[in-house]
Amino acid sequence: PRLVVLASGTGSLFARLAEAVAAGEVPAELVALVTDRPCAAVDRAAALGVPAHVVAPADHDGRAAWDAALAARLVDLRPDWLVSAGFMRILGPAVLAAFPQRILNTHPALLPSFPGAHAVRDALAHGVRVSGCTVHLVDAGTDTGPVLAQEAVPVLPDDDEDSLHERIKVVERDLLVRVTAGVLASGVDVDGRRATWHPAAG
Ligand code: GRF
Repeated sequence: PRLVVLASGTGSLFARLAEAVAAGEVPAELVALVTDRPCAAVDRAAALGVPAHVVAPADHDGRAAWDAALAARLVDLRPDWLVSAGFMRILGPAVLAAFPQRILNTHPALLPSFPGAHAVRDALAHGVRVSGCTVHLVDAGTDTGPVLAQEAVPVLPDDDEDSLHERIKVVERDLLVRVTAGVLASGVDVDGRRATWHPAAG
């Protein structure tokens, strides 16, 4: 299956996915990285020989135009699956309509706790002792789609946002590879709020 990854940040999750595809851990052709801004992920894609496309909101006249342009770019790439790995924009209706139930997202908290762009900071501010990460299907909301997998990560007394987020990302990278491999190999069964994936055979 053809895979496109969406990212906006340092791209460490993208890089881990790219390594997993190259190693045959994820049965996919990594077609491209798509981002909303020039970012370190673009540099990693270049180093890995993966085409990168920037579709920046500033280049389009409003959110709907950007959503349409992003959808058009993604459709051109003919992906079977999209993985959002640190993409810091809400995917609009044009993108969602083009790839229904075909977009995975990873979030650095145990949803439904701490949705949104500051999950790690919010968890620390709340004083939780356990946080973690969630891989879910993307729906029209913010981090609200059916959950596919979660893993817990302890919060240590002297944690700050960076130390906790790095500890979560170590777990998140491997969870994302496992779920992406299983979903690309066997698909997803969605029954209301319950989305089930099957670990890749073998
Ligand atoms: C990940 O924790 C992701 O869940 C969050 O941002 C981080 C992306 O990390 N949205 P990176 O840019 O892949 O290093």
